[in-house]
Amino acid sequence: MTKKSFLWLGLWLCCLTAGVKAQQLERISPGQEWPDNKGEHINAHGGGLLFDGGKYYWYGENRPARGFTTEVGVEVYSSTDLMNWTDEGVALAVSEEAGSPIERGCIMERPKVVRNPKTGKYVMLFHLELKGQGYAAARVGFAESDSPTGPFRFIRSLRPNAGVWPADFSRKDIREAKALKEEDYKEWWTPAWREAVTKGLLLARDVPGGQMSRDMTVFVDDDGKAYHIYSAEENLTLNLAELTDDYLDYTGKYVRIAPGGQNEAPTIFKRDGTYWLITSGCTGWAPNEARMFKAESLWGPWEQLPSPFVGKDADKSFHTQGTYIFKVEGTDDGYVFMADRWNPRSLKNSRHVWLPLEFKADGTPVLRWVDSWSPRELFD
Ligand code: GAL
Repeated sequence: MTKKSFLWLGLWLCCLTAGVKAQQLERISPGQEWPDNKGEHINAHGGGLLFDGGKYYWYGENRPARGFTTEVGVEVYSSTDLMNWTDEGVALAVSEEAGSPIERGCIMERPKVVRNPKTGKYVMLFHLELKGQGYAAARVGFAESDSPTGPFRFIRSLRPNAGVWPADFSRKDIREAKALKEEDYKEWWTPAWREAVTKGLLLARDVPGGQMSRDMTVFVDDDGKAYHIYSAEENLTLNLAELTDDYLDYTGKYVRIAPGGQNEAPTIFKRDGTYWLITSGCTGWAPNEARMFKAESLWGPWEQLPSPFVGKDADKSFHTQGTYIFKVEGTDDGYVFMADRWNPRSLKNSRHVWLPLEFKADGTPVLRWVDSWSPRELFD
């Protein structure tokens, strides 16, 4: 090859890769690689979405190609069309300081960001596990920023509602729960154990130090009040807890949802006055059949319904686990279910599965597999 043709080949290759990078996505393809503005698969797992100032922000776990701990932090991407995402960098970085609760090597999962209308701040809640302790710490982390892209400042981590009993527990309920002792129920899954869990065996154990808080989401209602929904009691029971006006603490009002039901990966939305909660069972990174609940009030009662997934592999939720539900801005009824198809051999390469929700005539959500779709279709 002459020097000149070698130069031309180089130029052509440069143009080709630049072209690939600049290529605009016209559709969302659930389960496929999802390249960002640099052509790299979006590294924002267990994520959530925020719409702010005309843009969508997608926050999620920045995961390494190998291993299970957090080495970077929470990544944020921005988009105006939900298909083409620009990597805005690390929103909340791990700390390099030994002993920090968010020290590199901790585990940060399922970050959710909301904007507080009163303070104007962006508030992030996330599931935090302390370095070297596996999943034993079961804490929630709080961080705050003046900008949606960060940097977020870590505020603190805790177990929610220390010293507080659920809003719907009477004095008698509290007395009975306090009388339950874990040593009397060493064998799990027996009818007696189930009854004890429902009555507050683990709840009572954890009241003094606060409830365990693992898989989680945040929901802001129409009146601006925010709620933290998290897997408590060894992942056996969901809690729904009201946050203070600045979204940085708890008011102390909380209820339990499906005690002993083993729900994880909570996702929630409100449509025509009804609240819908879609969750998963507890099988780690392996997919399982989703569950669904509905309520007319966030405080319950929550009625359990069959999984919204229909069709092939519905019993494995299309090999996914939910992470967030959002409404497409400007649509009357365009809701999107965000889920992860986890790849535990390489969490970084876990795929994103976003599906539009369909609704039955009575309002019940349905999730059907589609190979690809465009958010524009939701405007019809
Ligand atoms: C899943 C959970 C994930 C992650 C994983 C660890 O059940 O939803 O967020 O915590 O377990 O095994």
